[in-house]
Order: sequence, then C-alpha cells, then structure tokens
Amino acid sequence: MKIALREPKTEEVREIKTAKTITIKATPRLRGEITVPGDKSISHRSIIFNAIANGSARITNFLPGEDCLSSLDCMQAMGVAFELSEDKREVKIEGVGLHGLKEPGEVLNAGNSGTTTRLLVGLLSGQNFFSILTGDMSLRSRPMGRVIGPLKEMGAQIWGRKGDTLAPLAIKGSPLKGVDYALPVASAQLKSCLLLAALYAEGETRLTGLIASRDHTERMLSAMGTPLRVSETEIVVAGPASRLQAQNVEIPGDISSAAFWLVAASVHPDADLLLKNVGVNPTRTGIIDVLNEMGADLTRLNEREVAGEPVADLRVRSARLRATTIGGAIIPRLVDEIPALAVAALFSQGRSVVQDAAELRVKETDRIATIASEFARLGATVETQLDGLSLIGRPKLQGNTVKSFGDHRLAMALAIAGLLLPKGEAVQIEDYACADVSYPGFWEDLERVAEE
Ligand code: S3P
Repeated sequence: MKIALREPKTEEVREIKTAKTITIKATPRLRGEITVPGDKSISHRSIIFNAIANGSARITNFLPGEDCLSSLDCMQAMGVAFELSEDKREVKIEGVGLHGLKEPGEVLNAGNSGTTTRLLVGLLSGQNFFSILTGDMSLRSRPMGRVIGPLKEMGAQIWGRKGDTLAPLAIKGSPLKGVDYALPVASAQLKSCLLLAALYAEGETRLTGLIASRDHTERMLSAMGTPLRVSETEIVVAGPASRLQAQNVEIPGDISSAAFWLVAASVHPDADLLLKNVGVNPTRTGIIDVLNEMGADLTRLNEREVAGEPVADLRVRSARLRATTIGGAIIPRLVDEIPALAVAALFSQGRSVVQDAAELRVKETDRIATIASEFARLGATVETQLDGLSLIGRPKLQGNTVKSFGDHRLAMALAIAGLLLPKGEAVQIEDYACADVSYPGFWEDLERVAEE
C-alpha cells in the first residue's frame, strides 16, 4: 500500500499556506539547548542508496522535511517499500538491489528539492525503463544542464525544456559507459549524480576538476561496498557495481540548520546556546571557520564519529564579531550557510564581502538578489556583484516586513535577524512556512530559546 507522506501539494495549496506571515521580535536573551533535525544531504542519500542496496536498513534521525520526503516519495513510486515512524524520523527501508527498481506509473515529483532531482537523474539514466521527473516552480527554473551534459557523454537519453536544461525531464534508461569528466562546478549534487550513474556504467568513471564539495556520497557508497577510489584530485569508480550492501544510518544533526543558532548566539549580547549532535564533516564546517575568524566564541564538545560521519556538540556564546571576506575554496564548504552568515555580517563592524559564489544565483532563489533586497529593508547597505555581495552592517537596524520568496534558508535567516534587532523592533516575514523544507520545528525552537 502506498504511504501518503503529506498533504496533497498543488501549487495553489502551497500559495495559500505560504501567504501567512509571522512576526519575530527582538529578544533580550538567548538560552538553552537545541537538537537540530537530521542532516538533509545525508537523509536523501540514506534513502536513495539503501533503496538500491541489498538487504534492509534502519535510518534514525531522518529529516522529515519536505525535501527528503520528496526523495522517499519518488523511491516509493519505483516500488521501494518502507515503514515510517509516526514522527517520520525513523525509516525502515527494504533495498530492491541495483536492478530492482520498477518503472514509475506516475510523474516523479521532487517538489523543491534539487538534491532529489539531480541524484535521481543520474540513477534513472542507467535503469531499463522510462521516467519523468519534475518539481515546483523554483525547481523547474534550476539548471539541470550541468548534470545532463556529462550523463549524455555516458550514453544517457534525457530530454527537458530549454534544450534539455530544465525540468520536467524525460529519461529513457539506457546502457551507460564510464566517463572521464572534469567537474566545472564544485557541486556535490553533480558529483553524486555521476557517481550513481557510474554504478550502472560499463568501465571506469573518473571524476576530476572541482571535486572538493560535501563528501557524504563517497562515504556512504564506500561503506556499502562500492568499488570507489577517492584522492585529493580524483574519484574513480570501477563500474558496473555488482551490489551495494544496505547500511543502517544514524543521521547527525544538520550543520546547515545549526548555522542559524551559531550566528544568532554569536551576535546576540546575552546568549549561551548548546547545539547537540551536530555533523561536523570537514567538507561542511566552513561556517565554523568563518565565525571563528570573525571573533566568535565557539567550543566543540563531545567529539565522536557516528555512522562514518564526525559529530560534536557545539557551545556558542555572545561575542563581538568583525566584518570578513568570504571567498575562494571555502565557498563549497559553506554554500548553504551564506544567508545565515549574511546575518552575522549585518550585525558586525565594517564591510563584509562574499565573492566567488555565483552558485548562489541558482539555489532555491537567486540568493544574491534575495539577500540584498530583504537585508536592505532592515537598514543594511548592500551591493551585489555577479558572484557575490558586500554588506555593511549598521548599529541602528530597523524592523520591517520582509519576504522569504519561498526560500527556507532565507526565511530562517530573516527570523534570526529579527531576534537580533534593537529592543522594540520586529520583522514580519511573509511566506515563513517554507522553513519546513529543511528544518521542521524551527519556529518552535526559536520560541523556546528566545527568552522574554
Ligand atoms: C547538496 C549540495 C549543494 C547544497 C544542497 C545540498 C547535496 O548543492 O547547496 O543544499 O546534498 O548534495 P550543489 O551541489 O548544487 O552545490
């Protein structure tokens, strides 16, 4: 029986839900402990990879956000059986093996999730069936050419809008061959897409170029027994893979969700927060490095390794932050944290600069444009460039009505900015419910730690 993962989500339903506004007032104190929800990237991978493995797996601390439910939905549509706990944080999944997926009888809907789309295009390219993959309005405008180009070199047959670069995408599974490909963008979604296709390809796939991005795929596929060789300069898979072994996964808390609290407590003059069980994989900890450089007071406690991923508790206390410049090799290590870091810049002394970050233009929104427009409404001086922005924080910021444009990370960044405003000020955030995409429970956590 098909499990209904959530309410039917038509574009109209989403609009009604998202038209709502929330008011976040400046808070005198931030105190308490927060256990942020499971990591989004690892949650997607735990579902998609275990679905094509042999055996069953138990996934704990799964992120029940909209994006990961989209991955689960799509795998279910291809015949993968799973059980979901009532709070949707635990999944038992039955792997069907590398060749056990079934042709979906319906269009696969990835919702707002770029990760679902890009990983699945790679997986679907090597199947022996036809499929169509689409998503919401934002997803249908995000660039897919970066994955489709190299997949076609491997022999994939994929069609899409605008010269096969935009979803909806139609994929006719076909025999694939290994490829030697230099990644032109540091994208873990692109890397993972090609690694999934490589499992089905005849011969070696060799990825070089900008391979330094989050490495959860490499870690998890290796643990499942994929013949995968990783060095600083290349990733090599000897395809086709014969089988993957299902793996239980205990998912660490998402540092991209912890990011909002790391910034809020660093900036706030009376703050002390303990963030429990946060994933601190070095390919994801750029935000810690930048906040440290800005003068933050962060301590890592109880460092350990869980299911092949480093984890720690993070204590963060008030500090006085200095402006900074963020660019170059650190960008892929904090690409999702720039909305949060922009809040840190907003409340720091001086002019902060983000550069080499053109990828921000093609996230859930054009984050260079949306950060600039909404932060300017709070009184910041913002200039945009093609690949970044510069921002001068002001001691006298003001509350205002701001928009998330349906972008989960922008909604949460604006909420944090609201908490940090001068006494008596507040922000009204339009379309705030999209925070659920990556952080269900964000508004409740905020209410709990922002003391009256
Ligand atoms: C992700 C990779 C990143 C990130 C996204 C999740 C992943 O995207 O922004 O939120 O899980 O692989 P890119 O691969 O486009 O950089």
